Amino acid sequence: MRLSVALLCALVAIQAALLVAPSEAGELQVGYYDKKCRGVENVVKWHIIKALKVNRRTGAALVRLLFHDCFVRGCDGSVLLDASAENPHPEKEAAVNIGLAAFDLLEEIKAAVEHRCPGVVSCSDILIYAARDAASILSNGNIHFDVSAGRLDGLVSSAHEAQQELPDSTMTVQQLIDNFARKDFDVEELVILSGAHSIGVGHCSSFTGRLAAPAQQIDPAYRGLLNYKCAGHGNGNPAVVNNVRDEDYEAVAKFMPGFTSRVRKISDFLDNSYYHNNLARIVTFNSDWQLLTQKEALGHVREYAENATLWDGDFSESLLKLSKLPMPAGSKGGIRKKCSIVSHTLPY
Ligand code: HEM
Repeated sequence: MRLSVALLCALVAIQAALLVAPSEAGELQVGYYDKKCRGVENVVKWHIIKALKVNRRTGAALVRLLFHDCFVRGCDGSVLLDASAENPHPEKEAAVNIGLAAFDLLEEIKAAVEHRCPGVVSCSDILIYAARDAASILSNGNIHFDVSAGRLDGLVSSAHEAQQELPDSTMTVQQLIDNFARKDFDVEELVILSGAHSIGVGHCSSFTGRLAAPAQQIDPAYRGLLNYKCAGHGNGNPAVVNNVRDEDYEAVAKFMPGFTSRVRKISDFLDNSYYHNNLARIVTFNSDWQLLTQKEALGHVREYAENATLWDGDFSESLLKLSKLPMPAGSKGGIRKKCSIVSHTLPY
């Protein structure tokens, strides 16, 4: 009898921890943790500064994670969940999620935050803070916005759903437009957010079609560079930098000698260079090039190539909008103890 009372109490406690997720973006608040977990944003920022000092590419991974989390079931940390006996195929396993990274870093931050304020701060909020800070560091502070917080961590994560919701690099411009429209993002926002491809890497399998694309779609010298980079090196599917200025000097000198002056010592700078690259047909993905094939999108590519400051502001706004995508109406969520595991034990 005593055991069942204890069990009942535990079940009630867990039930109480499972809340209905905020359905409206407006319910999220800037400074949500001011009283609940003072200083949490500084804890996240400290970890991100430390991690990016070691490897700036981690910042690119975080910016992509924000997108891939928020486009599938809203920003609910569902992309962070590992496979388990109950759920063998979470979002992480979707083909479209190839190359996602920075999970360990987020888990490390979550542990530090749990130590400070147990059971208070969601993994989904930590992810948004982390991606915002990464974007800010990688842009020398040009990308910045206040994060509204108060998200709950979701309970559901499906590879199938991720595959259906996220755009694929083989899509046509119309498919990309339709994909973004489903989440209420227009053509301009599609172009703005694609500018994130000024940083990070892509696996050769993500741009196979580009390796044989005709000269009007891809600069032949750049195509030669990509073919060289993808030709094995003992690894069947290497990752190649998205921005030619982040390439190794020797490779650029060999294939694109005119570009050597643009190769940078510090990689992964988040800026409008993507638009210059796109107009010069030196971008990795088919989906990038596709933006040149539709009148409105092309107009915006030209606009952002010409105005770096405009892009910084508009990218900040669009990333903020992305970070507010809500969970499906009526979804339940909670605060996970670890970001990779649904810690609630109740059936839901
Ligand atoms: C418009 C549709 C988009 C498509 C089709 C697309 C596709 C891709 C693909 C295929 C990769 C490489 C994955 C790999 O092979 O490892 C990638 C990388 C990346 N994407 Fe996108 N993407 C899109 C939009 C976005 C948006 C909206 C963002 C963020 C706001 C973003 C941020 C990134 C970043 C930062 C990387 C590099 C990640 C890293 O280095 O770890 N992408 N994208």
